[in-house]
Amino acid sequence: ARGASLTDFAEKIGVDAASLVQMLFHLGEMVTATQSVGDETLELLGEELNYKVEVVSPEDEDRELLESFDLEFGADEGDEADLVVRPPVVTVMGHVDHGKTKLLDALRGADVVAGEAGGITQHIGAYQVHTEVDGEDRRISFIDTPGHEAFTAMRARGSQSSDIAILVVAADDGVMPQTVEALNHAKAAEVPIVVAVNKVDKPEADPTKVRGQLTEYGLVPEEYGGDAMFVDVSAKAGINLDKLLEAVVLTADASLDLRANPHQDAQGLVVEAHLDRGRGPVATILVQRGTLRVGDSIVAGPAHGRVRAMLDEHGNEMAEADPGRPAMVLGLSSVPGAGQNFIVVEDDRVARQIAEKREARERAALQAKRRVRRTLEDFMAS
Ligand code: GTP
Ligand code: MG
Repeated sequence: ARGASLTDFAEKIGVDAASLVQMLFHLGEMVTATQSVGDETLELLGEELNYKVEVVSPEDEDRELLESFDLEFGADEGDEADLVVRPPVVTVMGHVDHGKTKLLDALRGADVVAGEAGGITQHIGAYQVHTEVDGEDRRISFIDTPGHEAFTAMRARGSQSSDIAILVVAADDGVMPQTVEALNHAKAAEVPIVVAVNKVDKPEADPTKVRGQLTEYGLVPEEYGGDAMFVDVSAKAGINLDKLLEAVVLTADASLDLRANPHQDAQGLVVEAHLDRGRGPVATILVQRGTLRVGDSIVAGPAHGRVRAMLDEHGNEMAEADPGRPAMVLGLSSVPGAGQNFIVVEDDRVARQIAEKREARERAALQAKRRVRRTLEDFMAS
């Protein structure tokens, strides 16, 4: 909780910031909710609330947990000679209803491989598309994100774990609040942005206006002398989908060195997960490094298990998933959260131990939150 504002802290422990301001006032400290407060103040509050404030981030705590099993998330990729080219991971972001999901469905429909395999069967939040650029088969992995304002955290994580962002802007609607928010996430993560100006099939579409609006936010189109690629598309009418894929490949080739070592245990990210009635917990994951295989023992957040089966975006079974590949994984004990990490471990015993420790920690944090809320309620009532 280092250097947090009172609002951040209140959110972390699940109480309302105004009560904390009031409590601090009674303790002789005048602070506002948005003000950044020091560790001592947080500890003081913690004491009063009977809440153990450890000035250590959950990330650090988890790193220590993995270390105790001789594991590390995001370790060195190993020997230069082992590195192979991996596909770019592209996050699709933008304002609600601007056509992100539709665009991904259309891109997947335009997939040369999908045509052969017999079409689309599943909707999952991440998939890989093949495209041909200069006679070469190129793969691109996509991650869909929601545009609703409530999902800020998912957009932030999405941009952090991707190589390129596609910013979808509906040409009839123009730049909207979550367009700007997504743009800022991508900028903060220093991820190159390709703009897809969507819905150009609509009579009221005004792609020039979108260019002007984004220029004001520092995203200047190439045709205006800037360095951002803009592609006018229609997910609905299938216009310029190949141009968009080409822009992504060009961006990847121009500015990124995308290589990874497939000869190691897999690690990556949970994109989304749900409980399927017949299949149990189903997680869409993105392999970020190493190769994930059926039979591997994995721990994903507080879930663990052996990979019983993996499915690709067409519902076909896969025996393995290499770096940069999304896959649906079956076999987990429970449903992990979107944005949580997964890591392959030695065996299921280790996976279970790590998962249990994480679960215990989550439970303790939840109990502490409840206790704090009660203490605060008593305090406010007195
Ligand atoms: P959220 O996930 O809720 O943020 O929305 P989204 O950005 O994924 O939008 P979605 O793909 O669900 O599309 C929203 C609506 O716009 C749907 O009714 C689509 O059919 C429509 N739509 C998407 N692309 C186009 C397009 O190119 N042209 C037209 N005319 N309609 C489109
Ligand atoms: Mg969507």
